[in-house]
Amino acid sequence: MRALTVVPGTAGSLQLTELPDPEPGAGELLVEGLAVGVCGTDREIVRAEYGWAPPGRERLVLGHESLGRVRTAPEGSGFSVGDLVVGVVRRPDPVPCGACARGEFDNCRNGRYTERGIKGIDGYGAQLWCVETDYAVRLDQALADVGVLVEPTTVVAKAWEQVWRVGERAWYEPKRALITGAGPIGLLAAMIGVRQGLDVHVLDLVTEGPKPALVERLGATYHHRGIDEVAGKLEPDVVIEATGVGSLVFSAMRNTAPFGVVCLTGVSSGGRRIEVDAGGVNREMVLENDVVVGSVNANLRHYRQAAEELAAADRDWLTRLITRRVPLESFADAFDARPDDVKVVVELEGGR
Ligand code: BGC
Repeated sequence: MRALTVVPGTAGSLQLTELPDPEPGAGELLVEGLAVGVCGTDREIVRAEYGWAPPGRERLVLGHESLGRVRTAPEGSGFSVGDLVVGVVRRPDPVPCGACARGEFDNCRNGRYTERGIKGIDGYGAQLWCVETDYAVRLDQALADVGVLVEPTTVVAKAWEQVWRVGERAWYEPKRALITGAGPIGLLAAMIGVRQGLDVHVLDLVTEGPKPALVERLGATYHHRGIDEVAGKLEPDVVIEATGVGSLVFSAMRNTAPFGVVCLTGVSSGGRRIEVDAGGVNREMVLENDVVVGSVNANLRHYRQAAEELAAADRDWLTRLITRRVPLESFADAFDARPDDVKVVVELEGGR
């Protein structure tokens, strides 16, 4: 079988590699890969800016946004041949820390967690992969075309959960949310916000391409003006920041309504400096009881929530979020970001 592999730390090392078919261990499913999504983290790994191979190995099988169909399942596992499944990204650290011991590996305290396709364990960018039944999530068969969006949806399911948990430390009835960035994370965050009944606004730079219409179609409002102007007028109760752009982060922090919650999900590359009125930010956050919370990864609860969110979503809208489906042979095209891309996926089936 073939897999997308990379040598972490070596730019230009992404290739299609012929590997032996994996053999499922006890308690594991053998899964035929259908598709794998490409995100900013994958592109960082390909640019040699992130990522770790499994111990003692040079190459890492890339891919953490999975979708596959069960080929074999252990007896009594609750999974059947043909089930549509997604594999969880993170595994608990070996100590394990208190959070990992309680299934909250997304909040690992010692950093020794592993992540499939990212940190120390092979990913799902392969025509066949194995996954422990405890880390596989079954999807509604109707999600065969869009189930690859589960993993990014888990990230925003967690982000929204953080927002609510932070907000509910006192009386909480948020009305208006601003999402910065109309990539897959921003759009899926908007989708969940609308479903929660909030007045959702999405800010991005572009005025053309699919993003404005995708936002409007959700029943949310699209903005492309400067963040200070937009956020200053809206005074959102919630901001979900999905760009990692420093100036947006600080502007969001300064422009929330009192008791505002800003949830940061975008990972920035360091090294860019901006001037910030640190005293002003502090003053406002204290006097308004504002909170800024960072959020990464997702645990099994968020996978189940994401599967439900997608099952309840407008299937046509989800299909339009996947703007390019690239055959495995042309994998390199998938890693070349194009202006009109929202989510790009690599198709793993066929040509075995
Ligand atoms: C993935 C997360 C992961 C993070 C950091 C993101 O792209 O969606 O699951 O924890 O990268 O490695």
